[in-house]
Parts: sequence; structure tokens; C-alpha cells
Amino acid sequence: MITVKGISNQDFNGKKCLLRLDLNIPISENGQILDDTRIRESKPSIDYLLEQNTKVIIVSHMGRPKGKYSSELSFENLLSDFEKILKRKIVLVPFSDQEDALKIINSLDFGTLFLLDNIRFNKGEESSDSEFIKFLSSLADVFINDGFGTIHRNHSSITGVANLLPSFGGILLEKEIEKISQCIQEKAQNSTAILGGAKIQDKIPIIENLSKTFNKIIITGGMIRPFLMASEKIPNSKKINNDEINIAKKILIENEKIFVPDQLICSESIDGEPVLLNASQIKESDNIFDIGPNSLASITNMILSSDKIIWNGPPGVYEKSNFQNGTKKIIDSIVESNASYKVAGGGSTVAAINFFSATEFFTHISTGGGAFLSLLEGKFLQGIEVLKE
Ligand code: 3PG
Repeated sequence: MITVKGISNQDFNGKKCLLRLDLNIPISENGQILDDTRIRESKPSIDYLLEQNTKVIIVSHMGRPKGKYSSELSFENLLSDFEKILKRKIVLVPFSDQEDALKIINSLDFGTLFLLDNIRFNKGEESSDSEFIKFLSSLADVFINDGFGTIHRNHSSITGVANLLPSFGGILLEKEIEKISQCIQEKAQNSTAILGGAKIQDKIPIIENLSKTFNKIIITGGMIRPFLMASEKIPNSKKINNDEINIAKKILIENEKIFVPDQLICSESIDGEPVLLNASQIKESDNIFDIGPNSLASITNMILSSDKIIWNGPPGVYEKSNFQNGTKKIIDSIVESNASYKVAGGGSTVAAINFFSATEFFTHISTGGGAFLSLLEGKFLQGIEVLKE
């Protein structure tokens, strides 16, 4: 099991703490926060550090401004929301001028919570520029990474500073790594992984890694079609390129654990009438938008007899009432099952769980998207490596 040096039992009294968070949160067109989970989940580390008479300097990115200032992506717009959610005053540090940033931090008292404006306004963040890393490190005495959602990135504020300052994993980061690794690694008699998403290429390493410890891997969402083509249940079509079909064929030949639903809810368009079809009836013009009741019954049985379940990728277009039954049934059976591990992650999966108000029934819901997938893949992550005991 991967373990990082945590912050509990550490004495940070009188220290300046650089705290990496993932505040890259979904915002509506009119600037409203659509999901505040990542902010709420950061609160335990912030509180723990500030209770020890420290200065906490939060660093995070939002969006992909590519090294340039963008008023839309400035944390200035969200400061009062952050203050309400964290129940703390925050001093925003604009750092167009690095010396000014340092002056602001040094001039205020211990017990102050600072927030550096979007770190990706600086070119040096994503390029791991050594001067920029030195500057960031000069702001603090210790580095704490609690931004689990960014742990797969090799950037200045993630891996760079960790090489120059004494470094620790925050409370959320430790929890994420522990819960996800346990679910992947623990031995179980029966275990089910549910994987969706559109690109098979991205999922091969995950399927390979999860096959080591899971009995069943259920394919859902956009991957269903190429897998049905690979098993010759539906004819090849222009919709899917040959590479994907060949990859699906290879996975099916090498992996008897794969289950592909073959009764599906289709329609010619997302607003069209739903039609229940067996794989052999699916035509080129039919889009697969959900899983049919027979295939769902098999999936439900697998889930209900599982000791551990991991899920990434909703099976259908759950926002549309015509195509939400599959997602709802999968969530209901996860809720009903007695599995010791019920772990889910990824933006649309978490949104689906929220949509059906089932959050509390999971043992762990990850705040990570790409980071969650990287752990499922068993990938070597530099961001974790630099925090190891
Ligand atoms: C995420 O939302 O997955 C993380 O914040 C990483 O964002 P990125 O893909 O822009 O690096």
C-alpha cells in the first residue's frame, strides 16, 4: 500500500506552510460554483494547520490559462464564496510581482490564511521552471500537498517545491490514496469494476491493472459499441475506427473477466424516442444511450454479490429521463450491496451520484478525475513519490 508522510503529529508551530490544493472547480456561465466538494474537502487540512499558529499559503490552479493572466480565471471572483465555505477570512495574493507577494505574506500575522491567485497564470508552473520553483519555495518553510486531483501532474507547485522544502501529504490526499489503494489491492472473493468513457485506448492500462484484483469488469458508455463490434455482435461501422475495434478484440481475447452489455436502449438522437434493441438489431444510425433491462439484471447480480466495487463512467445519459434507468439501477444496486468497498470517481460519475442523491452510500467518492484514473492504472506518480515516508 502506498503511504505518504502525513501532517498529523507534526509540529508546524510558527511555520509558513505552502498548501497545494485542487480548487479547479466547476463554475457556471454566470460565475456560480456548481460543486464545492473540493473546497469543503480541503477544510480539515487548512484548519489543522491554522490551529497550530501558522501562516497558510494556499496555491491552486483553475482552468488552463496557459501561463497568462485571465480575469475570468482569477480566484478574486470566488474569494467570498471560498470564505463562506471555509468559514475563514482569506487574503488574496495577486502575484504579478513576486516581491510584492513575499511582502504581503511576511507583513501579516501568524494565523492568516493566504491564497495565491491562479498558479497557472505563471508560465513557470507547468514547465517546472527552476527559478519559479525557487520563488514558490521561498514563500514558506514547509510544503503540504492536499490537492489530490492534481497529483498526476508534474508541475512546479506539485513536484518542484517538494524537492526543496520538507514535504507532507494533507488529510484529503492521505484519505484518497488510502481508500482507493485499499479498494484496488484488497483481496475479495467477488469484485466488480464498472468502467465507462469513450476512448478505449485510455482504458487499456486500467483494465489490465484492475484485472489483477477484480473478478468482473463491466464495460459501459461509449466503449460498448467497439466491444460489441470486436465480438462480432454488431457489424463494423464508420462510427468507430478499426484501431479501437482491434484493441477491444485483443482485450476480449486476453481477458475473460470482461462483461459487455448486449441489450441496449438506443435512439437516432438524444431527443428521439428510446428503442430497446438486442445487439444484433442495432443499425449504423442507432446511438447507444443506455443499457437495457436484461443486461442490467446481469450487472445488478454481479454488483449485489460483490465484496468490492469500483466505478468510473456512467452507463447512460442519466440527465435525460429516457436514458437514466441504467445509471439509476447501477447506483441502487451499489447502495443495496453489502460490499466493504464502494468507491467511485471521475467528474461525470460523481455528478451522477449527486444527481441521484446517493453520495452517503459510497465508502469513498474521489475528488480526482485524471488523478483517480492514474491510481486505477497503477501508474508511477511523481507527485506521490516526493511525499513518501
Ligand atoms: C482536474 O480537475 O482533474 C485537475 O484539477 C487537473 O486539471 P488539469 O487536467 O487541467 O491538469
